[in-house]
Amino acid sequence: MTQIIKARYPSNIALVKYWGKRDNQLPCNTSLSMTLNDSFSEVSLQYSEKHSSLTEFGYYFEGIPKENFRARVLEYVIKQKEFSSLLKNYALRIDSKNNFPHSAGIASSASAFAAIAAVLLKASAISSDTDFTRDASRLARLGSGSACRSFYGPYASWGHLREINNSSDDYAIPVKEIHENFRSMRDAVLIVEDSPKKIPSSVGHAMMKHHPFAAARFQQADKHCIEMLSALKNGDMEAFISITEGEALSLHAMMMTSGDYYLLFKPETVYIMEQIFQFRKDTGLPVCFTLDAGPNVHLLYPESIEEKIIQFLKNNFCDQLKSVIYDHAGQGGSII
Ligand code: DP6
Repeated sequence: MTQIIKARYPSNIALVKYWGKRDNQLPCNTSLSMTLNDSFSEVSLQYSEKHSSLTEFGYYFEGIPKENFRARVLEYVIKQKEFSSLLKNYALRIDSKNNFPHSAGIASSASAFAAIAAVLLKASAISSDTDFTRDASRLARLGSGSACRSFYGPYASWGHLREINNSSDDYAIPVKEIHENFRSMRDAVLIVEDSPKKIPSSVGHAMMKHHPFAAARFQQADKHCIEMLSALKNGDMEAFISITEGEALSLHAMMMTSGDYYLLFKPETVYIMEQIFQFRKDTGLPVCFTLDAGPNVHLLYPESIEEKIIQFLKNNFCDQLKSVIYDHAGQGGSII
């Protein structure tokens, strides 16, 4: 008999960036993200008893076999002891799809690995309901670090810090105290380039191993996490803006100053950031940007000023933008 488990998990955008990892996908610093609502992956796991000792594992993206991602996911499944009896006793087929375009600056590995870990864990039936989310977050982290934060919303942190209760390097935890100023934040993803990433994040993480500024960067991120938690608690928009933009620039500064330096900004990226500085100065509106490991710009602002932001985009960026994806802070995913 074939059984099916489905899950839907969103992506997240880091405000304080995870950049640099130790053995077994453990982060070199604490990170903190906003969970998205509308940009999600849907994953279905079909499993049926098998009668041979051969591994039977299929991975399909939008109905089409996806060989390179199949190899990554299979290696991940083999490595996790929690999934070993599943792989041994069942033929597995994973189907995945995203409801956001590929290469849009929205991390599909975060939403996909969150959903993959959740369906596999559910099928393994080894977690009680109370432990499920934490266990799934830990297992998702082993697939892709940032995925562990997609289990909680609207904000989640990942990484142990003495100052954060119950925090851990193994899994993410929800941010508990959030002022109403930050409960309905929007994220407009301004797409200046929609071709696939030239340098995968894993290469960037590896470069932090011998980076001349690594120690200072990890300290800075931990400090930013503590400051961001206090900004989220107290409704301090000024601090939120300055930490978020400072982090985005610091992340890219790490790429530009590593031994094998590289640059992901495009001229449009710089133009947009400068326009945002000017718009904020002229209007006093609470809007800021962050960047992932790519050239596209995430514009963050409260729901109350959405119309003004849409007008700002229309007036200024007709020539620079391929498209805009509007999303907002959400609550994390679930088995469906
Ligand atoms: C810049 O989570 O994609 O988005 O653990 O190798 O899969 P792996 O890396 P990944 O790195 C995310 C990097 C980032 C910052 C962040 O999301 O914190």
